[in-house]
Amino acid sequence: MTSCANNNNDALLAAARAAREYAVATFSKFHVGAALRAKSGKVYTGCNVENASYGLTICAERVAIFKALSEGERGFDAIAVVTDAEKLTPPCGACRQIIWEFCGDAEVILGNLKGKAEVHRMSALFPLPFDISNL
Ligand code: THU
Repeated sequence: MTSCANNNNDALLAAARAAREYAVATFSKFHVGAALRAKSGKVYTGCNVENASYGLTICAERVAIFKALSEGERGFDAIAVVTDAEKLTPPCGACRQIIWEFCGDAEVILGNLKGKAEVHRMSALFPLPFDISNL
């Protein structure tokens, strides 16, 4: 883990922060924004989307990844996640699985609205993954 973000990462955090404004967090009130950087340089954003079933909620990270994949993008090197929490918000278990499978050992940049930021790698957040190499 490194504790400061570089310029590229600052731009990705800013995109995640902007995406967070669209969060549909009707039930939890926990607003999350994500921004995914493709190897092509393109950035795809997402926010969490909740609904009355609760269980069909989708996290900001997966929204960003599925948007990118559904537009034909492949190969990613970083994803930023922004919330208003003092304790930075890491991806949930389901998102770690999806980030690992589609982004590999990407950088995961966590930030909050006060400008606190940390950079982690997926290999540290998701050791001993189950993936296509197991099939
Ligand atoms: N959530 C995300 O969108 N990403 C995370 O990394 C953690 C959790 C969402 C899911 C739900 O809408 C709300 O935050 C509370 O769990």
